[in-house]
Amino acid sequence: MYNAKAYSVSSARSPFASSTIVRRDPTEDDVQIEILFCGICHSDLHTARNEWADMMPTAYPCVPGHEIVGRVTKTGTGVTKFKAGDLVGVGCPVGADLTCPSCRDHFEQFCPNGVFTYNSPDKHLGGVTYGGYSDSIVVHQHFVLSIPANLDAAGAAPLLCAGITTYSPMRHWGVGKGKKVGVVGLGGLGHMGVKIAHALGAHTVVFTTSASKKEDALRLGADEVVLSRNADEMARHAGSFDFILDAVAAEHDINAYIHMLRRDGNITMVGAPDKPLPVNVFGLLFGRKSFSGSLIGGLAETQEMLDFCGQHNMTSDVEIIPIQKVNEAYERLLRFDVKYRFSIDMASLKCE
Ligand SMILES: NC(=O)c1ccc[n+]([C@@H]2O[C@H](COP(=O)([O-])OP(=O)(O)OC[C@H]3O[C@@H](n4cnc5c(N)ncnc54)[C@H](OP(=O)(O)O)[C@@H]3O)[C@@H](O)[C@H]2O)c1
Ligand SMILES: [Zn+2]
Ligand SMILES: [Zn+2]
Repeated sequence: MYNAKAYSVSSARSPFASSTIVRRDPTEDDVQIEILFCGICHSDLHTARNEWADMMPTAYPCVPGHEIVGRVTKTGTGVTKFKAGDLVGVGCPVGADLTCPSCRDHFEQFCPNGVFTYNSPDKHLGGVTYGGYSDSIVVHQHFVLSIPANLDAAGAAPLLCAGITTYSPMRHWGVGKGKKVGVVGLGGLGHMGVKIAHALGAHTVVFTTSASKKEDALRLGADEVVLSRNADEMARHAGSFDFILDAVAAEHDINAYIHMLRRDGNITMVGAPDKPLPVNVFGLLFGRKSFSGSLIGGLAETQEMLDFCGQHNMTSDVEIIPIQKVNEAYERLLRFDVKYRFSIDMASLKCE
């Protein structure tokens, strides 16, 4: 075991503060990584503030962060995929049994024995796992990904959650040329959803509550932008979408978007509001529409997404911040005041 520097919260109401955590020494199959950048996902905020108390209560102290890019510093004797110096990524899953039906089908994220990067029982050290707001992490090689060499490390970090969470359902529901695709909420996930839908060749429409994001949406690859609070603009798109990805982090009217789907259209939630969303079933019946959910993606698909982003030279639009600004960043995230993901430069931890 060794000590690592981190930023943690000690309760749902306390701010982040500098702290020391314990990491395991790399075992045979482990990769030790010096963390260079870590994105701030809205799930970090939900967890730090215990907003998902009913589904996934938070254990404190909590060190969030599951959009990790770093350099390999050490590998166990059984590690074949990586060597010291490689640029690698770690996302939301860091453990799974690799034998259950979900794992065998490459959906490690649904493994009943899965371990998430933070706030999951730590099978090696006891307590809970600690995430990427830290200077290093030790992860089993199966859950470590290769970052394409042409991608900027700070901008690549958010691909590990925002990228795969939007890529996976789009691939599953056949997003591509000839399809009309909506993305609801232009935040960290949403802006990656727009880039990916555009790169897949779909006609891409952004639904936003923020008039100020209109120009950005077009620059990011949207063909059209709809202000969701404008009833006339909304009415123009009724019954026309093959697929809609909903990445909103709070309560909102899902029925307005079900109404946008054409026959056999699908709307997938990736946003994870803490309160239930009331669904008007009649909206689904007429047109055999479906409403579903999706959770990140498996490891093989995450590597596929990274390679796809490498081919398209595509990363997240990031604002790089030092770790000392993380409390301020959380407040700004709640005001939709980030374009479009914070990426923490972990070099800033060295002076703590
Ligand atoms: N399923 C998964 O695997 C997965 C993975 C990662 C994250 N998540 C969840 O996905 C959600 C989004 O995460 P994120 O990191 O992208 O968050 P984010 O950067 O804060 O973006 C959320 C966006 O949703 C829109 N929005 C927020 N509140 C709204 C409201 N009350 N009504 C309408 N629109 C609203 C805003 O976009 P506009 O300004 O454009 O309206 C905002 O920018 C979170 O709940 C997060 O926990 C799920
Ligand atoms: Zn996330
Ligand atoms: Zn499994």
